[in-house]
Amino acid sequence: MGFLTWVFFILQILLLHGLPISSDSNLSSKDLSEIPKDFLKVAKRVEFFDWMVSIRRKIHMHPELGYEEYETSKLIRHELDKMGIQYKYPVAVTGVIGYIGTGGPPFVALRADMDALPVQEMGEWEHKSKIPGKMHACGHDAHVTMLLGAAKILQEHQEAFKGTIVLVFQPAEEGGGGAKKMVDTGTLDNVKAIFGLHVAPDFPITEVYSRPGPLMAGSGFFEAVISGKGGHAAIPQHSIDPILAASNIVVSLQHLISREADPLDSQVVTVAKLKGGDAFNVIPDSVVIGGTFRTLSKESLMQLRQRIEEVIIGQAAVQRCKATVNFLESEMPFTPPTVNNKGLHQYFQDVAGDMIHISSVKDMQPMMGAEDFSFYQEKIPGYYYHLGMKNETKGKLAYLHSPLFEINEDALPFGAALQASLAARYLFENKPETTPLNREHHDEL
Ligand SMILES: *[C@@H]1O[C@H](CO)[C@@H](O)[C@H](O)[C@H]1NC(C)=O
Ligand SMILES: *[C@@H]1O[C@H](CO)[C@@H](O)[C@H](O)[C@H]1NC(C)=O
Ligand SMILES: [Zn+2]
Ligand SMILES: [Zn+2]
Repeated sequence: MGFLTWVFFILQILLLHGLPISSDSNLSSKDLSEIPKDFLKVAKRVEFFDWMVSIRRKIHMHPELGYEEYETSKLIRHELDKMGIQYKYPVAVTGVIGYIGTGGPPFVALRADMDALPVQEMGEWEHKSKIPGKMHACGHDAHVTMLLGAAKILQEHQEAFKGTIVLVFQPAEEGGGGAKKMVDTGTLDNVKAIFGLHVAPDFPITEVYSRPGPLMAGSGFFEAVISGKGGHAAIPQHSIDPILAASNIVVSLQHLISREADPLDSQVVTVAKLKGGDAFNVIPDSVVIGGTFRTLSKESLMQLRQRIEEVIIGQAAVQRCKATVNFLESEMPFTPPTVNNKGLHQYFQDVAGDMIHISSVKDMQPMMGAEDFSFYQEKIPGYYYHLGMKNETKGKLAYLHSPLFEINEDALPFGAALQASLAARYLFENKPETTPLNREHHDEL
């Protein structure tokens, strides 16, 4: 065998039989503050890092849209099988839920989203998307990889856990309400806390960003058909002009924000779609407009929904048009705001601070982008944070959803180790109230 063949052979053995995680695998006797640093060391080991990179690239080359993540889900299950982790499948079409530990309470969950976007990748590199018109342009390939990385770290210590870590691989984050479907199955009912992350191309690597309370907006979508009466453009008195009505509607919708919303309660209404008319000299029968609205509280979201409908119908009537408004909730359910549990904020700062130093654990302003992690937070105390990826010496990274989006793979160990630490420490710090049996085994899933 040549040298490279040997290296490959040894790597295979390491991957098949699990990596030596820690010289002292008695986690329960360890000082809790050492766990995050230890986990990061493990995740940064060359063979562990290379394994994560290879998984991330495989997923990146085969992006799948919401509820179509069959191959991604298969890859996840294959890796969980190799680690000896039990799981439920399918949950919410393509979702997978894995279990590490005793199989009994308390339960703490880690979440990753699996779906890609309908974007054509424009960057040229060896592992670019092989599927025309689809791309992991939001970094969910990295999220899946980091959760598998966390799973591998945690599984090596499964004997130490008094409780169960629940690995949540969900479909369809990008507007499909995959998290809602997962929650609706009831499989997370007993979970005491859930953690999720997003890669952030504009925050520095080795730093994490979040805040207590509202972190990301709730969002809804709307589409309206404004109907008038078509006719000759030179004889307007015989027509009812839906273009003028639509124009006034677009302007009036902006007044909901400038005149009705509390200036300190951030809100957005954007009309992103406006379609009507094909000729220079014909007034069309109807115009379609559509867009999105965002708020930082669920009450404001519902209030805005009601006012959008009233303004569209009322303003259409001013110009003698009729309007119907559709909030498209069956295809694109309203996403509630992502609101971080205040107690978990302190906990997150402690754990992340132990891993990367507290000066790298930063507060951030809320963002008006939406994230369906909020569906878990409606049921379970949850905490969501952003993981920095920017490395100035390597240059700028394109923003999320860009066809030039890239992952800085150096961030993978940080996400894997931090997620693993958040789950492990949670179980050590939240012991079950009663311990009737000393459960040595974990076959009662
Ligand atoms: C782990 O540490 C605890 C507490 O120090 C000790 O009681 C236990 O025997 C240790 N277990 C192993 C397998 O070393
Ligand atoms: C940033 O990039 C440089 C150049 O590739 C590398 O040497 C350094 O380790 C990177 N920093 C981090 C934190 O990954
Ligand atoms: Zn996205
Ligand atoms: Zn995303």
